[in-house]
Amino acid sequence: MSESLNPAQIQRPHSRLYKLLLAWAVLATFLSASAFYFAISGKLSEVPTSDIPKKRNVIFMVSDGMGPASVAMARNYFQYTQKDNLTNLFIDDYFIGNSRTRSNNSFVTDSAAGATAFSCGLKTYNGAIGVDPLGRPCASILEAAKLMGYHTGLVVTTRITDATPASFASHASFRSEEDFIAEQLINFEDAHPFGRTVDLIFGGGRCHFLPSSHPDSCRYDESDLISDAKSSGWKYIESNEEFKNLRLGKNVSLPLLGLFSPTDYPFTIDYHDTEFPRLNETALTAVRALSEATKDSENGFFILVEGSRIDHCGHNNDAGAQVHEVLAYNDAFEAMVKFANEETDVPTVVLSTSDHETGGLSLAKQISKAYPDYLWYPEVLNRAKHSIEYLSRALKAFDGSKKELNEFVDQDILGEKGLGFVDHTSEDIKDIAHHVLTSSNRLSVMQSLRAEVGWATHGHSGVDVNVYGSSNFPEILNPVVGANENIEIGHYLRDILGIDGQLLEELTRELRDKFGDQFPNV
Ligand SMILES: *[C@@H]1O[C@H](CO)[C@@H](O)[C@H](O)[C@H]1NC(C)=O
Ligand SMILES: *[C@@H]1O[C@H](CO)[C@@H](O)[C@H](O)[C@H]1NC(C)=O
Ligand SMILES: *[C@@H]1O[C@H](CO)[C@@H](O)[C@H](O)[C@H]1NC(C)=O
Ligand SMILES: *[C@@H]1O[C@H](CO)[C@@H](O)[C@H](O)[C@H]1NC(C)=O
Ligand SMILES: [Zn+2]
Repeated sequence: MSESLNPAQIQRPHSRLYKLLLAWAVLATFLSASAFYFAISGKLSEVPTSDIPKKRNVIFMVSDGMGPASVAMARNYFQYTQKDNLTNLFIDDYFIGNSRTRSNNSFVTDSAAGATAFSCGLKTYNGAIGVDPLGRPCASILEAAKLMGYHTGLVVTTRITDATPASFASHASFRSEEDFIAEQLINFEDAHPFGRTVDLIFGGGRCHFLPSSHPDSCRYDESDLISDAKSSGWKYIESNEEFKNLRLGKNVSLPLLGLFSPTDYPFTIDYHDTEFPRLNETALTAVRALSEATKDSENGFFILVEGSRIDHCGHNNDAGAQVHEVLAYNDAFEAMVKFANEETDVPTVVLSTSDHETGGLSLAKQISKAYPDYLWYPEVLNRAKHSIEYLSRALKAFDGSKKELNEFVDQDILGEKGLGFVDHTSEDIKDIAHHVLTSSNRLSVMQSLRAEVGWATHGHSGVDVNVYGSSNFPEILNPVVGANENIEIGHYLRDILGIDGQLLEELTRELRDKFGDQFPNV
């Protein structure tokens, strides 16, 4: 029976609606077998979304750079580690469709155009942050939601000024303008025409908020955004201890700015939970805080939760690190679905998709002229102790004080303490020892060859990506079930939030007036 169900209908076994439906369906079996089939196969999609209470929460999740192959790789890896080939990932059960990702100026998008497709609902050029193809600012759904009385949040694992979060709460001709983006995110010296539009921020990228004289700074000027944020009412935290004090959302005051790392977080494979909060924890803390803050309000909340560094593993062609990033994202998705089902009565949508695929990953690689075997080896990834980024940095920092370079490469980089190879040769050791400054790609080639996974590029690719969804009011997902253009995801979020198209147009005009000629035509 469950095989004939649409995933949008089965994902929430505990919902009131599902129980009602089930009761009705059981009754229907007594009436006629065909009526029963009809009840479970087609009825829900006829329930109009507009009948769902107007107070809503939207948890929009972006798995940056995660294509279908990344999900399958993490699933197979999980099956390998669980010694159970029939276990799937939590997220697998929530697959509802796909998204086509091309941008305005290329078949292969970047994260900026990819995020602007979601935030403004329009296709723009690669590199554009909340601006249209002509470089003019476009109002985002986060900004409109905030002005309508929603609470808003951004929770990521990269710099908070990076393209995906930036496109929801700031506007810039190019994604590299991260200092300017930081100013808009916290409304530093009234940098944002609408004032402060974000209530909660968790991520990395502290360096763009610190004055250039600070050792951790990457700003070009002396502006101290953190002290300005504090004096304009933000609570600021940066350590894992301070995060723990939030008690997963039970001890939070808004607005809250949490910048846990000077730049991006380290990769999941490289850090311990004592050093950094995990995405499932920051996301859960955030939705609980936003839910509490809106409990007596007519409006709910909008939050962006991004598994930001799946993409970076793709860029580095680092399969060993990527499986851990995907599993951490899967944990965060699970925490969001459970929040929606168990902790709120407000209609809450959890929608997850990717902006694009990264790396052109394939789960097989032909390693000789002979007809290839049909397999790949998750055990190779399971032996890796660190990411390739971590290991190539360690190589660059090697100072010879403790051991010989060859020994270091043998043990700490290729062997037991590094990628965990058991079959590396003296040629492999020599190759890395002779390319200490450029080891990254060589390491990924060695790992991928052994695991028999392939990569087509160090950049992004143009394949379609998966969409996953869950809601305590499952029928609210119907409009995104199936095939989507990426901008249709943005339109869907806009509609679920009840944002009028005219409001967005008005806000867009206001943005253009207030930013004036700050945005050159591109
Ligand atoms: C899972 O599948 C792989 C690949 O077919 C196989 O090598 C392995 O023995 C299987 N593991 C179990 C526990 O069945
Ligand atoms: C890109 O934007 C321009 C200007 O708005 C438009 O004319 C063109 O059709 C767009 N192309 C795509 C593929 O979106
Ligand atoms: C709540 O947070 C404050 C800091 O904002 C901290 O001093 C306090 O110990 C926390 N309370 C609990 C019960 O964790
Ligand atoms: C987050 O994920 C980790 C690893 O799976 C798990 O141990 C932890 O309990 C999760 N925390 C929350 C709040 O879901
Ligand atoms: Zn990328």
